[in-house]
Amino acid sequence: MSVATHTHISALIRHRRSIKPVDMDSSRAVERTLLTTILEDATWAPTHGLTEPWKFIVHQGGARQRLAETMQCVYQATTPANEFREDKMKKMGENPLLAPVVIACVMERRGGAKIPEVEEIEAVACALQNLQLSATAAGLGCYWSSPPLLGTREFAEWLQIGVEDRCVGLIYLGWPKSGLNWPRSVRQPVESKTRWCDE
Ligand SMILES: Cc1cc2nc3c(=O)[nH]c(=O)nc-3n(C[C@H](O)[C@H](O)[C@H](O)COP(=O)(O)O)c2cc1C
Repeated sequence: MSVATHTHISALIRHRRSIKPVDMDSSRAVERTLLTTILEDATWAPTHGLTEPWKFIVHQGGARQRLAETMQCVYQATTPANEFREDKMKKMGENPLLAPVVIACVMERRGGAKIPEVEEIEAVACALQNLQLSATAAGLGCYWSSPPLLGTREFAEWLQIGVEDRCVGLIYLGWPKSGLNWPRSVRQPVESKTRWCDE
């Protein structure tokens, strides 16, 4: 790989930000061909045993309304009264309609006892980072959301996923609203996260 390509990839990785659905243009569709390329890029993630343990359930158009209603129902049914928050409930009803695409990203258990579950989840996380980087390179905004209700039996049943499978996140995708100030972020100096062992 050339140095120029590395420079571009490094810049892309650092440029990716979580773009909230409220900052996406809900009226501008994402072309199916572009979505397919982004999903294909996701699948080039590494997987132990080449199990490719992902499933992407893509919600667009009216399916987003059904997703929003389901999240609200499941949240209401599974949240203890003392933890229930009206603002969260409201957001669940709104967010899927603010983004043109919402992808329920599922770890489908494929490796059996040979591959630990955590490694299947890790592989899906790698795929979702690929997905986000590919989307960012295309100019799309993306946002990984993981409300606790994703782990409930009720939501898993609605998604029609297996008992050993797990929805690890909702990825919201959409074109950023024009004029959006791209969010800034910071990271700790890598030296504080690194121990060099040279001798
Ligand atoms: C596994 C995972 C789950 C996440 N879940 C949420 C979430 O539920 N809500 C949220 O606001 N952000 C969520 N995020 C996004 C992080 O908040 C975000 O990546 C972090 O603030 C750093 O910002 P950046 O993505 O712009 O670099 C999640 C990220 C990951 C990797």
